[in-house]
Amino acid sequence: MIRLAILVLRALCIGHLSIGSSLAMRAPDMPPLPEVSISGHHTSDYTAKQNHPTSYVSSPSFKGPLKASKTIGYSSSEVSLRTRLAQYVAENDTNLPFLRKPFRSASVTSPPPLVASERPSTQMILNAILQQLVAHNAPIDAKEVMESTEFYLSLRKRIGAPLQIVDACAGHGLTGLLFAAGNPGLQRLHVNLVDAREPASFAVLRDLMTDVCPWIRDRVTYHAQPIQEYATSMRDKGTSRDRNAPTAVIGTHACGSLTDEVLHLATEALEAASVAVLPCCYTGMAKTVPYGVQRAHGVAWAADLRRSFWLAEQGYHVDFACIPSEITPMNRILIAEKRKMDKYTAQNKR
Ligand SMILES: C[S@@+](CC[C@H](N)C(=O)[O-])C[C@H]1O[C@@H](n2cnc3c(N)ncnc32)[C@H](O)[C@@H]1O
Repeated sequence: MIRLAILVLRALCIGHLSIGSSLAMRAPDMPPLPEVSISGHHTSDYTAKQNHPTSYVSSPSFKGPLKASKTIGYSSSEVSLRTRLAQYVAENDTNLPFLRKPFRSASVTSPPPLVASERPSTQMILNAILQQLVAHNAPIDAKEVMESTEFYLSLRKRIGAPLQIVDACAGHGLTGLLFAAGNPGLQRLHVNLVDAREPASFAVLRDLMTDVCPWIRDRVTYHAQPIQEYATSMRDKGTSRDRNAPTAVIGTHACGSLTDEVLHLATEALEAASVAVLPCCYTGMAKTVPYGVQRAHGVAWAADLRRSFWLAEQGYHVDFACIPSEITPMNRILIAEKRKMDKYTAQNKR
């Protein structure tokens, strides 16, 4: 009986091993990774990697203080989120720490200015900014505030603390302003906002935010020019441009191919250490992607996959992240970082 059991076990082991080895023999080689030269700054130069997500979540929960209810569907939330911030806060149960119940607009006053040397936490900074924007009925919708805040919170640790941030197609500029506000201790940080047109709301937001986060004064510049022109001026500056300032480029909802222009600005003109975009308006954006990929994955994914392969060819480590889909269905972030060579690439180079 025991001999029989040993024989069966042996047969199974041999079978298992032979199946395993025949599979191994048939498995195709992994395609070689593109040869990339990793030059200039990479994010590991100035920031320790931390809290990198391990899974892709297509609609994460809100990280910031202002949240949209999970119970309302996208279309109805879209309507209600496109309400001026102060009115949205008055009409919805937002549970913000500075609101007294029952809500009275008059009860919201400006918070005292924060002090950079006291190292205020990100939460303190965001709460103070929100309180200030509500107290002054700032000219911005709840949707824009949530979008900028969630984008900032998803990325702040990943792009770390570069010395220059370029917010391309910045519009009202709140996203770039949040990156300036969120780095009180980084005195050399400068945020450049670039947009074909500087909207009047920018100066109002900047001044209100400067009142509570005084360190952003003189750290933010608005360049009212097309990003193509800005890219040319950066290229023309050539070596006289401050290449010692590691640069991160961000671009939220730059319509259609403008997102690709932002990626070119980042990788070619600015040689950025990292770039993060939240694309929108996908029509026509996947034309060069094989038809089957478009059919299987949809045009939006096909376009972002094309962008991710292009960025990888430029030598960037590419990943995806998301902001909560209650804010917008265009909620996918494409994030690319120049990194020191990763283990896999290093092994393949040996
Ligand atoms: C949908 S808005 C996004 C604004 C902002 N980033 C946001 O998320 O709210 C697109 C912005 O791109 C700007 N824009 C359009 N063409 C541009 C160009 N060629 N160069 C720079 N900005 C441009 C528009 O003025 C507009 O502010």
